Amino acid sequence: MKTIMVIGAGQMGSGIAQVFAQSGFDVYLNDMNEAALNKGMNNIEKLLTRAVEKGRMTDDQMAETLNRLTPSTGLEDASNCDVVIEAVVENMDVKTSVFKQLDEITPAHTILASNTSSLPITEIASVTNRPEKVIGMHFMNPVPVMKLVEIIRGLQTSNETYQAIEIITHSLNKTPVEVNDFPGFVSNRILMPMINEAIYTLYEGVASVEDIDTVMKLGMNHPMGPLQLADFIGLDTCLYIMEVLHEGFGDSKYRPCPLLRKYVKAGWLGKKSGRGFYHYE
Ligand code: CAA
Ligand code: NAD
Repeated sequence: MKTIMVIGAGQMGSGIAQVFAQSGFDVYLNDMNEAALNKGMNNIEKLLTRAVEKGRMTDDQMAETLNRLTPSTGLEDASNCDVVIEAVVENMDVKTSVFKQLDEITPAHTILASNTSSLPITEIASVTNRPEKVIGMHFMNPVPVMKLVEIIRGLQTSNETYQAIEIITHSLNKTPVEVNDFPGFVSNRILMPMINEAIYTLYEGVASVEDIDTVMKLGMNHPMGPLQLADFIGLDTCLYIMEVLHEGFGDSKYRPCPLLRKYVKAGWLGKKSGRGFYHYE
């Protein structure tokens, strides 16, 4: 397991590619959108430069890490890879289309992993001819900082695939947690209803954006308030996850807040679009 591809060079994909390259893997970072790919590569360079400035990495180590990263706009490069990690938008149709192509392009031994936040791994696996080699590898944002990787077993994921991903997770200096395939897994089943409730709290006029976040930061010692965290994750991603929980459990307690829908419709996607619950430069 030496060469990997990350598909989607957004905030998650670029972080995942960086962490693998820093751990000695050869990495293709792929995006269908060249501007997004350049932004992802620039972001990695910026974070590595900061690590050098802070004395956590030498100039040589930074150069070696960058040398291990190859930008790519075509999925064909996946034919050289032992593991592919998909980190495109949280939408089942887009993900299954990527997995169908990967199943044709990659050699039989290649493990196909998804960084999905909430979508069923079993359903993604079902569009391939290798469901035993399909698995969820769910990193947390920001990837270079957060220690957790949720590893999700689809119904047909083999023990060999699980063990290979567990070993890789340790080699990235991260902590794996094994989770079964249920909507939102563990992380977002618990986190996202809290964020949705914070948005309802704003929608119902209980308190201002800043005050809701202050309550959770100072009152519960959360590093970010839930509205700031929603902006950081991306409001589109939050809405997709709430929709998966709502549909997957069929329970009205997961109903996405209308204010969340409104913001996403307006293109207020949080930090990445410059406006969400807060304004960004
Ligand atoms: N990318 C990479 N590194 C980052 C970063 C980013 N976006 N943001 C901050 N960092 C690094 C900084 O470089 C800094 O490291 P150094 O001091 O060594 O340079 C370190 O993190 C701390 O940063 P700051 O001092 O600027 O700020 P902070 O103390 O407030 O920490 C934070 C920033 C780590 C993001 C912290 O606010 C935090 O933990 N927030 C909550 C994050 C969280 O809950 N993530 C999970 C989201 S849910 C998810 O990921 C699952 C999903 O499916 C949606
Ligand atoms: P993002 O919008 O920042 O990036 C997605 C990238 O995928 C974009 O650059 C887009 O151009 C690219 N893309 C879309 N379709 C593609 C395709 N067919 N082929 C190649 N590239 C394609 O999104 P993100 O926040 O990085 O989220 C990516 C995935 O990670 C989602 O499944 C999300 O649920 C999951 N996730 C997100 C977070 C978070 O906090 N944002 C945390 C954990 C997991």
